[in-house]
Amino acid sequence: MIAYASRTGNVRYILSQLQLPGIEIGEDTMIGEPFLLLTYTDGLGDVPPIVQRFMDRNGKYCRGVAVSGNRNFGHYNFCRAGDTLAAQWNIPLVRKMELRGFPSDYEAIRRFYREQIEERSADRHEVVFATQQ
Ligand SMILES: Cc1cc2nc3c(=O)[nH]c(=O)nc-3n(C[C@H](O)[C@H](O)[C@H](O)COP(=O)(O)O)c2cc1C
Repeated sequence: MIAYASRTGNVRYILSQLQLPGIEIGEDTMIGEPFLLLTYTDGLGDVPPIVQRFMDRNGKYCRGVAVSGNRNFGHYNFCRAGDTLAAQWNIPLVRKMELRGFPSDYEAIRRFYREQIEERSADRHEVVFATQQ
């Protein structure tokens, strides 16, 4: 699963290009399975408050973060929400993207998702199956 936040549509567009299951973050969103976080950057390099609150509830299931930003905010603040979340939750920063990103970004995210979320949850199901024998 990909949990995403989008204010002006860029992240929603990225999600639409990934062809992976996504859920838009709302005030009450709960996810009881491993997910990739996809977010924009707010303020001056800030994590959007709705994403911060979502991570307070669900962060233990987060396996990585990919982030959209705008280079006009300067090198230090470009996509800095991703650096903050990666450090805070000890998760990989999968990709920083300018605005809607590029096909190479979507491919990198898909690869991470396949390897770190899909394949690992397949392993987990195998274990469950084995213990039921
Ligand atoms: C008020 C505001 C503050 C922003 N601050 C930053 C910032 O500090 N760093 C950055 O990289 N992008 C910043 N951005 C750019 C957005 O993160 C970027 O446009 C992103 O693609 C928006 O995604 P969305 O269209 O899904 O909401 C800011 C945008 C707005 C409107």
